[in-house]
Amino acid sequence: MSDIQNDEDISTLVHSFYAKVEEDERLGPIFNEAANVDWDEHLPKMVDFWSKMIFQTKRYKGRPFREHLPLPIERDDFGRWVGLFTDTVDEHFEGNRADYAKELAINIANSFSTRMAMDGKFDQNSED
Ligand code: HEM
Repeated sequence: MSDIQNDEDISTLVHSFYAKVEEDERLGPIFNEAANVDWDEHLPKMVDFWSKMIFQTKRYKGRPFREHLPLPIERDDFGRWVGLFTDTVDEHFEGNRADYAKELAINIANSFSTRMAMDGKFDQNSED
């Protein structure tokens, strides 16, 4: 197994990861029902995002956190998300960039989750 080398590898990672996400009983409906995601738009956007993160390309320009605020995400969903992401990386890649991608995913998930908690999003009876 080799490390993440180029955008083709990022594309493999992103497509394999979201295939798992779609199958997941908690995460799948957040994408396909709550957000009604257009996958033809979302997948290339996520390739741009990870390409920026790992190769410092400038292709993704966005503010990801705010896109998540209106979604029906629970605290535990981040653990599932990170678990699937880590599994996907480990199934395809091995090396420093693979490790870096997993660390980034964990850190960003923690940061999203902490900010949502501060926003009161996980409070009981939260209406959003
Ligand atoms: C429970 C965990 C998560 C769920 C359920 C989730 C779900 C979603 C959904 C449904 C969208 C599409 C929003 C829309 O187009 O309407 C989205 C966008 C996005 N997500 Fe997540 N996400 C999660 C965690 C993460 C994490 C940890 C990262 C970063 C490592 C991330 C990065 C992004 C980015 C970059 C976008 C694109 C935002 C844009 O439109 O510019 N997400 N996510």
